Amino acid sequence: MKEKTSLENLRDHKKKAHLGGGQDRIDAQHKRGKLTARERLDLLLDKGSFREIDSLVIHRTTDFELDKQHYPSDSVVTGWGTIDGRLVYVFSQDFTVFGGSLGEVHAEKIVKIMDMAMKNGAPVIGLNDSGGARIQEGVVSLAGYSDIFLRNTLASGVIPQISAIMGPCAGGAVYSPALTDFIFMVRNSSYMFVTGPDVVKSVTHEEVSFEDLGGASVHSEKSGVCQVAADSEADTLYLIRKLLGYLPQNNMEDPPFINTNDDSLRADEALDKIIPDDPGKPYDIKEVLGMVIDNGQFFEIHENFAMNVVVGFARLGGHSVGIVANQPAVLAGVLDIDASEKAARFVRFCDSFNVPIITFEDVPGFLPGTNQEHHGIIRSGAKLLYAYCEATVPKVTVITRKAYGGAYCVMSSKHIRGDVNLAWPTAEIAVMGPEGAVSVVFRKELEKAADPVARKAELVAEYRKKFANPFVAAQRGYVDDIIEPRETRARLINALEMLQNKRDANPAKKHGNIPL
Ligand code: HXC
Repeated sequence: MKEKTSLENLRDHKKKAHLGGGQDRIDAQHKRGKLTARERLDLLLDKGSFREIDSLVIHRTTDFELDKQHYPSDSVVTGWGTIDGRLVYVFSQDFTVFGGSLGEVHAEKIVKIMDMAMKNGAPVIGLNDSGGARIQEGVVSLAGYSDIFLRNTLASGVIPQISAIMGPCAGGAVYSPALTDFIFMVRNSSYMFVTGPDVVKSVTHEEVSFEDLGGASVHSEKSGVCQVAADSEADTLYLIRKLLGYLPQNNMEDPPFINTNDDSLRADEALDKIIPDDPGKPYDIKEVLGMVIDNGQFFEIHENFAMNVVVGFARLGGHSVGIVANQPAVLAGVLDIDASEKAARFVRFCDSFNVPIITFEDVPGFLPGTNQEHHGIIRSGAKLLYAYCEATVPKVTVITRKAYGGAYCVMSSKHIRGDVNLAWPTAEIAVMGPEGAVSVVFRKELEKAADPVARKAELVAEYRKKFANPFVAAQRGYVDDIIEPRETRARLINALEMLQNKRDANPAKKHGNIPL
C-alpha cells in the first residue's frame, strides 16, 4: 500500500479530531437532542471565525487500558473566534469523548485558553457538557480542576467569564462555572449539582430526579445559581452573543457604544400616570423601564429568581448600562435575602466592568420575619450596601415612589456616592411608611383617643403630607432634583453624558471584606 504523504497524514489526524468520539457517539448525542461541541461553537461564533488549537492533543494515561483509546483533541475543543467581530476565547466540552470528562490534558487545554484570554484581554466562554473528573485519571483530574478554579478566580473582574451548561455538570465540576460571571442553562437537558440523585437518596433518603435536583428551572428560579435559562441550545448560544454586546472586552475598556437611533429626548407621557393614586397598589417597574431605555430593549439577568428586584442590561442614548430596579409588582418590591444578593452581585459585576448603574427605587424596606432574620437578612442586606458603597462607576438613581428606612440608604443614595439622585413627585422618602410611623410615634395618644381609627387616619394623612414626599430630601440636597416622570429618559442620558469621564477611587487595600 502506498505510504501517506505528510499532508494526507495531517488531514487524517484533523478529520479524526473532528469526529470526536466517533460517528456512533455523535449520533447518540443528537438522539439526546443535543448538539456536539463543534456544532455549538459554530452557532456561538461569527461564521468561519473559529480558530481551533490543540486539536492534536491526546491524553497520556495508561491505566485502565486507556492507552488503547486515543481521540485527538481529547474531550474538549478549544480556541478563539469572534462574536460580532470582537475576540473571544472558547472551550467546548465534547461529551462524545469519555463523556466530556476532565483529565490532565483536558484541563491543560482550558488553562491555555484562559491564560491567553488574560494576556490579551478578551472574554472566555465555556460550554460545559461533562461527566466530571475523569475517573481513570484520579487525582490528576482534581489537580486539573484546581488549576482552572485558580484561573477563574484570578480572571474575575479582569475579563468577563461566561459559562453555558449544555448537559451534565456535576460534583466539584460545578465550581468552575460558579466562579464565573454568568451561568446560562438549557431547559430540560442540562443539570448542575454537587451530589447526584443516587448519593442524595443514600444520604438523606430523598428521591429526586436530575431535573428537580439541579435542572435549569431549579437554578434559575430557586437557587439563583443560573442567571439565564433558555429553551434550547441555539437560544442559549444566541443569548450569550447578545449579552456580550453590553460588555467591554476587559476591565480596562468601556463597554461598546451602539447608536440605537432612539431619540434621547423622547418623553413618554404615560410615565406621568403610571404610579397608582393608592400608594398600596402595585405597578410593573418593567413597564417603566420599557418606556425609558433605548427601544425598550432589556437583557434581563435572573429573570425568574427573586423577582422583587429586577436587574439587567440596557442602553441609554447608546451607552450600555446596568439597571437595578425594585419591583413593586412582586412582594411590594421589598428587599429580602435573595433580592439583596441578586442585586449585590449585579452591582459588583457592573462596577468591575465599567458599566454605569441606574437604580430605580420603590422599596418599602427589608422583609420582616423570623425566616429572614434567622437566615441572615442582616448579612445579605449588608452585601448590597457594601456593593453600592464600593462601586465607583457612574451611579444614577431615580426614586419613583417609596424609599423607606435602611432601604433608602442602600439603594444608591446620595450618601453612598450616588452621583445624580432624582425623584419623581410621587416619591415618599422617610424613615418608615406613614402607618408604621404613626403607630410608633403616637402610640400613647392613639390608646387614649375616643375614636382611635379616625384619629390614626388623620395622623397618617398629616404624616404623609409632611414627610412622605420628596421635598424634604430635596431641600437638603439628598436628591438633586424632583423631575416630571416623562423627563426621566432625557435626564438619565444627560446625567450619563455628564458622568462620562467620572474618576473615583477607593482607598488602597489588598481587598475589602464584603460580608459574605
Ligand atoms: C470517565 C466517563 C465519566 C467520567 C462518563 N464517562 N463520565 N468516563 N470519567 N467521569 C463515560 C462513560 O463511561 C461512557 O463511556 C460515556 O462517558 C458516556 O457516559 P454514559 O454514562 O453512557 O452517558 P449517560 O447515560 O448520558 O450518563 C451521563 C452521566 C454518567 C450522568 C454523566 O456518565 C455519570 O454518572 N458519570 C459519572 C459522573 C461522576 O460521578 N463523575 C465524577 C463526579 S466527581 P462509553 O465508552 O461507554 O461511551 C467530580 C469531582 C470533581 O467530578 C472535583 C473537582 C474539585
